[in-house]
Amino acid sequence: MPAIAAENTKTVENLLAAYEGESNATAKYSAFAARADADGWHGAASLFRAAARAEQIHAANHARVIVQLGGEVKGTLHEVEIKGTLENLKAALAGEQYEVNTMYPGFLAEATERKNTAAIRTFHGALEAEKTHARLYGEAIALVEAGKKEAWVATQRDFFVCPICGYTSETPDEHDRCPVCNCPWKRFEIIR
Ligand SMILES: [Fe+2]
Ligand SMILES: [Fe+2]
Repeated sequence: MPAIAAENTKTVENLLAAYEGESNATAKYSAFAARADADGWHGAASLFRAAARAEQIHAANHARVIVQLGGEVKGTLHEVEIKGTLENLKAALAGEQYEVNTMYPGFLAEATERKNTAAIRTFHGALEAEKTHARLYGEAIALVEAGKKEAWVATQRDFFVCPICGYTSETPDEHDRCPVCNCPWKRFEIIR
């Protein structure tokens, strides 16, 4: 196995932390989706499934760069704490906000300092996609909190996920191409 070059040690450490975070988010959101269906919030369940798919894409992207840099892909899956759907949505939003405001900006700054284009690309894609998740979770929280059974959170629906960067949208034709990575919109995965 190729050794990790000294100047990439910190970048690989950050990639591994991000890989572990995204892997855990995938598992957590899948469990939250099942609970949302059980609670009758089927649109929230669709959102959890779409976000879970996006986090899976992020984990795979990070893993590819870890290997490129000579690292070994590994991480620990923690037990998921499942509460009611409103609490789960709030936990998911808190996780996204940590990634958007703290984790990814820090990792991106380090990779930028090292001029590591592969790491910059994977961190940037994830950061921008997490912003879409934070927005959608925020909307879902307001609707569930208000008990809006007639709103989208209650009914199973489509979400559109970029297969390259995980950008997530509730709109089938928001753009021609992914605004983050330029992937053609027609290649987006439909998750419901
Ligand atoms: Fe996310
Ligand atoms: Fe994208």
